[in-house]
Amino acid sequence: MHDHEANARYQDRERLASLWNDEVERFRIERPKSQSLWLEASRLMPDGVPMLWMAKWPGPWPVFVESALGSRFTDVDGIEHVDFCLGDTGAMAGHAPFASVEALTRQIEKGSTFMLPTSESAEAARLLEERFGLNSWQFTLSATDANRSAIRYARQVTGRPKIAVHDYCYHGTVDETFATLDEDGKVVSRRGNIGAPVPLSETTEVVAFNDLAQLEQVLSKRDVAALLIEPALTNIGIVLPEDGYHDGVRELCSKYETILIIDETHTFCAGPGGMTKTLGLEPDVVVIGKSIGGGVPAAAFGMTESFAKRVRDSIHLEDIDVGGVGGTLAGNALSLAGIRATLSLVLTPAAFKSMEARATEWTAGVQSAIDRFNVPWQVTQLGARAEYSFRAVAPRDGASAAAADDFELQQFLHLHALNRGVLMTPFHNMALMCPTTTSDDVARHTEAFAEAVSSLFS
Ligand SMILES: Cc1ncc(COP(=O)(O)O)c(C=O)c1O
Repeated sequence: MHDHEANARYQDRERLASLWNDEVERFRIERPKSQSLWLEASRLMPDGVPMLWMAKWPGPWPVFVESALGSRFTDVDGIEHVDFCLGDTGAMAGHAPFASVEALTRQIEKGSTFMLPTSESAEAARLLEERFGLNSWQFTLSATDANRSAIRYARQVTGRPKIAVHDYCYHGTVDETFATLDEDGKVVSRRGNIGAPVPLSETTEVVAFNDLAQLEQVLSKRDVAALLIEPALTNIGIVLPEDGYHDGVRELCSKYETILIIDETHTFCAGPGGMTKTLGLEPDVVVIGKSIGGGVPAAAFGMTESFAKRVRDSIHLEDIDVGGVGGTLAGNALSLAGIRATLSLVLTPAAFKSMEARATEWTAGVQSAIDRFNVPWQVTQLGARAEYSFRAVAPRDGASAAAADDFELQQFLHLHALNRGVLMTPFHNMALMCPTTTSDDVARHTEAFAEAVSSLFS
């Protein structure tokens, strides 16, 4: 069977439309306070949301949050939800994790941003070194900015113009990464790319995940400064690396002198040191963002000693502040205090064990509904996260995963879950566990999911 043929699109669109309408009706009745806040907000913000992409949540208006703690949040209508989105890892430590909140509060009371280091800075770097093995760290406010900085440095030291990425990757709002391959294998802008500054073919090469031959073809041109990858794709559904893939990636990057940047922002779910640690990977740069601040904006990138030296040797002190890598609030004292507390006290190795156990339960719950109703879908777990997709077997690359997308079906499943007090990560079918996610939380999803699948298939 060709990989793309693993997709069996849900056929009964009439039934899907009718089920969707029922869920919208229920949502309308149960969320009046969110509605009135949204109507008010719509006068002042496009679509009534602080960032336009928030309009894509399923339902006639977004849910407005009142408060959150651990794995749960309550909305303004008083409905409690189990949160499997967790701010798409921004709250992977759980909402308002006690130890992080304490450290953050202490730091806020002492001042939060100085453009100067504090005693927390090196300690945060040391904790990251312990996790990921690299020993030269810089801090930003977002994973996007960490990726941008790493790319800049790679271009600077190699003198090469391009970067390479996986097809259907996501690395934040980094201009060069919104590229895909067309039917003839040409690099083109990805659908939905807003206001691209230059044609993507000028900046980017694209390779399929798990395809070493294609990677060699691209890197052998020797114009690629950096290969920026997730060690498993996580933003188009989970796509796991095949045996030997990462050995091959490392080998090819060394052979063609391309800087290997591994973005662990999401794959951090695989363990305390991400997939870099669990698989023994040897990147030149690791990027980690979102989760590590314990809820406040924080991200970092770690470099090997040799890459860091090449970077430092290439930059004059006089020009260091205007070189395209920076950010006034990057590396601020508050973010660093958050990282230190979150890594040492919240997202600990013991916490990861419990998160992974909950993800295993979640995966088993989804699988049991798939089996019971004989549905042609699959579910994949990666440490503390798991995701189902509308195809019979796990995809081996991004294009196959993308081909299984079904926006209407996904919106229905998400709204169905939301109406039963379960928040899934929007835009795909992912669930993430935090240290305080319980088996009861997971059971709530298992029950709702089985009910949704039953309404679609029986
Ligand atoms: C793998 C990966 N890297 C980087 C980012 C960017 O994170 P941020 O939006 O916080 O900059 C994301 C966001 O989802 C991501 O999934």
